[in-house]
Amino acid sequence: MAVESAVRSVGGRRLAELVTGVAGQRPGYRALAQGVRTLLLDGRIALRTRLPAEREFAGSLGVSRATVTAAYDLLRESGYAHSRRGAGTWTELPAGERPVSVATPAAGDGVIDLAIAAPGALADELSAAYAAAAPDVARHAVTPGYHPYGLPELRAAIAERYTRRGLPTIPDQILVTSGAQQAVSLTLTLLGRPGDRIVVENPSYANALAVIRQLGLRAAPVPVTEDGWDAELFGATLRQAAPRLAYLIPDFQNPTGRVMPREQRRRLIAGARATGTWLVVDETVADIALDVPTPPPFASLAPHGGGEQIVTVGSLSKGHWSGLRVGWVRAGTRLITELTTLRVTADMSGSVLDQLVAGRLLAREADILGRRLPVLRAQRDLLTASLGREFPDWRWQLPPGGLSLWIDLGRPIASALARAALRHGVRIEGGSRFGADPGTFEHRLRWPYTQPAEVAEEAVRRVGAALDSDLTTTTEDPGRPHWVA
Ligand SMILES: Cc1ncc(COP(=O)(O)O)c(C=O)c1O
Repeated sequence: MAVESAVRSVGGRRLAELVTGVAGQRPGYRALAQGVRTLLLDGRIALRTRLPAEREFAGSLGVSRATVTAAYDLLRESGYAHSRRGAGTWTELPAGERPVSVATPAAGDGVIDLAIAAPGALADELSAAYAAAAPDVARHAVTPGYHPYGLPELRAAIAERYTRRGLPTIPDQILVTSGAQQAVSLTLTLLGRPGDRIVVENPSYANALAVIRQLGLRAAPVPVTEDGWDAELFGATLRQAAPRLAYLIPDFQNPTGRVMPREQRRRLIAGARATGTWLVVDETVADIALDVPTPPPFASLAPHGGGEQIVTVGSLSKGHWSGLRVGWVRAGTRLITELTTLRVTADMSGSVLDQLVAGRLLAREADILGRRLPVLRAQRDLLTASLGREFPDWRWQLPPGGLSLWIDLGRPIASALARAALRHGVRIEGGSRFGADPGTFEHRLRWPYTQPAEVAEEAVRRVGAALDSDLTTTTEDPGRPHWVA
């Protein structure tokens, strides 16, 4: 595979400043390599950044040139750097850690896919919605069918839904996107410039972190633990870093399932106003309210519904069906226009039929969620019982909503276990995929309860067999993409 070369560079003095922050003054070669790796994985230096020449960097660091040479060797050996004669040495990610978005494993290959935390649709509801939407197509067929802002009736339905939930919204404040993923991606692309700081929860949604890395934004991680969000650190990070952006999942956070308390939301809004920080609030999982009600929209706590400070992202993927690819952005009307201009360069517009179906599903939302949530609750209970029997040492906190358990394995084996699980027919993600620094959360496993009982039981059995196998075997499955949701 051709390796792309550097697209930007970092000077010796600047990198020395950055790296001594993580590796200490006058680091040895291992600490130096580790420091560069951390900076890369933390988004503080971007992928494909040309590293300074060895002599220059050594001078800036006050270490011998041999130390830098050895550190660069180590980075290359571990896949975190690449060199070409004449082009220098630049940062890379090992193939397995590259954010790749390709098709999910072929259906029917016998692998149980626990890397995707999304349930299938209610088939009867989905079929009925498509059937009901089909006659409406004739009305649209006389037009070209391009609606870059989204189908007008769907924009109106989404706006009305916000209004009903306590956040007055007009259709012009809505852009319908291809899922929440496009919504996050467009928003961060529009509002962020390479090098801008963005506060992220740690752990967080893997594909949003991937966008952040791709854009060269500098992630400022704030932990989300069993106790929830670290309010002090959040405040301090806002004050000290004055970040341009913050990306938050306050409702049934993916992957921890936590819900941000109302008071903390208020403090965060106030803190972000003071520093002029955009809050990008991802409410994709908000519908999956198992033990507590869905909180009111985050922006409803802000003056003027968030005005020009809060961008809200939503989706039908979790409550209805990811296969629809219908999500949205709610923001100020000017921002919506700018986002739409950007979306045109990506995909022009969404599918008319799928948006008609989305409208039908939204109209039946209460009934659909009324059927769906008890099933998920039962699946969650069954999974926890089954895991408790098979893995008595594992710990988790029962999430009040969302779609997965964030399991503490008690030892840092998640990547090895995930590889072994794949050999036993289960695709599952270790915690590091959700870390702002992918080398972290090695003692965590995200385990969705989106599978029906018999599949879930079989997955537990297979992972049990994987855990009993030799976890040090490193055979990868080369054909299998590294893909999560
Ligand atoms: C927090 C969060 N945001 C966005 C997405 C992407 O959703 P969509 O299918 O709507 O693109 C997901 C899906 O897992 C998610 O959990």
